[in-house]
Amino acid sequence: MDLGNKLEGTRATIETEIESFFSSAPPLNNSLDFSEQVDKFIRRNSVASGNGGPSRVVCVTSGGTTVPLEQRCVRYIDNFSSGHRGAASTEYFLKAGYAVIFLYRRGTCQPYCSSLPDDPLLECFELTDEPNIQVRQEHSEAVKRAISENHAAVVEGLLLKLPFTTIFEYLQMLRMIAIPMSNLGPNAIFYLAAAVSDFYVPWQSMAEHKIQSASGPLNMQLAQVPKMLSVLRRDWAPMAFCISFKLETDSKILLEKAGVALKKYKMNMVVANELSSRKEEVVIVTSDGQIPVRRNKAAGVDDVENPLIQLIVERHSAHIESSNL
Ligand code: PMT
Repeated sequence: MDLGNKLEGTRATIETEIESFFSSAPPLNNSLDFSEQVDKFIRRNSVASGNGGPSRVVCVTSGGTTVPLEQRCVRYIDNFSSGHRGAASTEYFLKAGYAVIFLYRRGTCQPYCSSLPDDPLLECFELTDEPNIQVRQEHSEAVKRAISENHAAVVEGLLLKLPFTTIFEYLQMLRMIAIPMSNLGPNAIFYLAAAVSDFYVPWQSMAEHKIQSASGPLNMQLAQVPKMLSVLRRDWAPMAFCISFKLETDSKILLEKAGVALKKYKMNMVVANELSSRKEEVVIVTSDGQIPVRRNKAAGVDDVENPLIQLIVERHSAHIESSNL
């Protein structure tokens, strides 16, 4: 078999795997509402709308996907991600004038909430003369900032928050966002910080009811989740600026794996991070080389997302310029 035929064969296999993933996934609840919301948001923020709003739109994915083990799910496999990276990055993209579709795992970190306590309702508020409540003095600044900045972004139509839980929901939603975003051409960014499951139980082979422990040790075969990066790049939004992430716990293999992903999936950038140092440092891997980005408290840079998004915005501007030549 020559190389051309071999590549065609591999591509056909990936397409079949992707098709079979989507056709066997349980359909999204409210998929019509979902599509309408997304379309409206993109139209409002598109160049063509001419409403003076920002013409750059980024889809930030955040948090980990779950893999249910039962259709009436009692148990599931989870992917690690607090959602901090996605939430903080969303704030910086908004600051830089982007409209943001924040596709996040239910219950993970939200934009503008990083300085609130973990249990904001119980810890930020106190009872005064019942039935009134008020914000505790020590949290009032943080609460005011979170409410007003979030409110401004949502009311101005610049922030659309869409929650997912399972791998089935996440990938269907990503596709339903990516296809209309392709209308934005090079002005669209995909910033794929979500930790996406690599293995799953296909819906039709999943137990319907709670798996019984009385049956003894559990043997389960997990199928591989097809990597959607290639189809996102090639079919869903071919002109978009695509940034994927590479997370490893072994720093020795991190940069090599990020480089492979950059080429294999034709990403514009891969952000490489190691689990234990992910809040201090990331390395941006591009076809021009590697750029380390560090949090630098001494220089007043509170988090790594601030310089990271600045660099992405610069590179995205260059991408738009070169696409318009
Ligand atoms: O949320 P925090 O606690 O702040 O942590 C941030 C983070 C460490 C989760 C984040 O910075 C990060 O690295 N996210 C990606 C983690 C991950 O899933 O890496 P991966 O090597 O498994 O996947 C690489 C890329 O392929 C990802 O961009 C993912 O969107 C994509 N992918 C993965 C699996 C799959 N089946 N299809 C995909 O498209």
